[in-house]
Amino acid sequence: MKKSNDWWRQAAIYQIYPRSFKDSDGDGLGDIRGITSKVEYLKSLSLDAVWLSPFYPSDLADGGYDVADYRNVDPRLGTLKDFDKMLKALHKADISVFVDIVPNHSSNKHVWFQEALKSAPGSAARNRYIFRDGRGKNGELPPSDEISHFAPSAWTRTTNSDGTPGQWYMHLFAPEQPDFNWDNREVQLDFIKTLRFWADRGVDGFRIDVAHALKKDFKRLHIAKKSMNGFKIAQDGTDILFDRNEVHEIYREWRKVFNEYNPPRVAVAEAYVQAKRRMLYARPDELGQAFNFDLLGEEFDARRFKKIISDNIRLAQSEGSSSTWVLDNHDRVRHATRYGLPKKTDLVQWLLSDGTSAKLDRKLGLARANAATMMLLALPGCTYIYQGEELGLFEVEDLAHKDLQDPTWHRNVVPQMVKGKVSGLALIHTEKGRDGCRVPLPWDSTKPSFGFGNKKSHLPQPNWFADHAVNKQDGKKGTTLSLYREALALRKKLQTGEELEWIATTNPEVIHFTRPNGWQCIMNFNGRPYKLPAGKVVLASGPITGGKIPANTTVWLIP
Ligand code: GLC
Repeated sequence: MKKSNDWWRQAAIYQIYPRSFKDSDGDGLGDIRGITSKVEYLKSLSLDAVWLSPFYPSDLADGGYDVADYRNVDPRLGTLKDFDKMLKALHKADISVFVDIVPNHSSNKHVWFQEALKSAPGSAARNRYIFRDGRGKNGELPPSDEISHFAPSAWTRTTNSDGTPGQWYMHLFAPEQPDFNWDNREVQLDFIKTLRFWADRGVDGFRIDVAHALKKDFKRLHIAKKSMNGFKIAQDGTDILFDRNEVHEIYREWRKVFNEYNPPRVAVAEAYVQAKRRMLYARPDELGQAFNFDLLGEEFDARRFKKIISDNIRLAQSEGSSSTWVLDNHDRVRHATRYGLPKKTDLVQWLLSDGTSAKLDRKLGLARANAATMMLLALPGCTYIYQGEELGLFEVEDLAHKDLQDPTWHRNVVPQMVKGKVSGLALIHTEKGRDGCRVPLPWDSTKPSFGFGNKKSHLPQPNWFADHAVNKQDGKKGTTLSLYREALALRKKLQTGEELEWIATTNPEVIHFTRPNGWQCIMNFNGRPYKLPAGKVVLASGPITGGKIPANTTVWLIP
């Protein structure tokens, strides 16, 4: 079926983390054929699209976000032929496909970076990345004090072919992820080639990784330090490293490319900046949409949810976009876990304690997670769902240290203090990382690796995954899977104009809104049972008794 050009404005998009979705060949890694084998399952969720996290050749220094070849498939995950077959099968099921574009950095195994290492300082090959001489007498100090997400310094020194120490290169993330020089036209053109490569194959959309970091102020690079948090940077587009005004030129050029296709290709920016600045990436002449992560760090709180919803709808409209809604992704602790922990639990510490520092109430967490999802699905805009949410999965909080893969775990460092002064940096594990939400999905509780593959899975699954397996929930009323299926199918029918009207409630713990076609959504966060409004109940996230909505429950009604 041909979709309208703005199909993406109110879509339901499911994020697949390919290595943990379904393994078809038993090597422990999920793969492309695995995805193809689950098209019927994806169809049963009434999705508009799936977004695939990177499946490109990679050393997996950062779960695939270290791309060695942007126009190929990791041989462990399949071939381009497999990709084409998967795309065809998904399209046949009326599901569009987004791929992940990682433009800020490549893998250090990328041919360009390998060539740069072998080339002389100042060469064209080095100019595709950010190479600089070190400070200090012999260049022994990094060019700036900038720290990286996964390492003490955002600079790593190279070794010349004669064994002597050489220049340094910049990496905002792991040392295996060198940053590109986006002032270089060759880099710009190569990414356009990549976009066309996938768009020509029929890919419908792109998720743009760290979209706000591409342009850097090279004149001030040497004074950049510790500005890793995009929320703390200058709000006028003049930060040295992030969210610079010139970055938008790149996306305006991409938009022209997207619009050459029919239907135009769509895109969504991952830009960790404040809401107002984030919306600039979503302008119609740029990427069109940007992830709204405001709910990811938020407690289960009616007032905060209501404010975030109002603000984001307003902001999106002001830039001609539609809002997006996200509760989970591959970088965050799963929302069923977040909502089942006592308020203000420090998630980093909780994970480091293997889940012992605070008690997780699984029943409560899941009830709240499902209520929140149902509310989000009733909002105008685009909802992103992360694989496993629909099975009610919790974070795997007690993965053994030996099993952890995330560079966050391996690379976190703390300053060593001597007499109040920083004397150096020590590699002490300060964060467990993001593996707990990336554990392979349980498909069948009776099979090895719960039906993920033949026997093993690249991250171990806990025994409680069996209770969440698809076979345990399939077709059974009251399960999270059934709720997602029903909610998504109904949403497809009910989704309407992009407006929302708030209805006053007599309890601040309850939020209530209606859509232009009379579709109502009412959610009781923490309040006393709340009287159902007039209308026909079409779905509830939990049992309703005596005409009242209990706490931690969402209900949809139609006239
Ligand atoms: C994005 C990805 C994250 C990755 C980082 C570096 O934030 O979501 O998983 O580590 O970019 O590419």
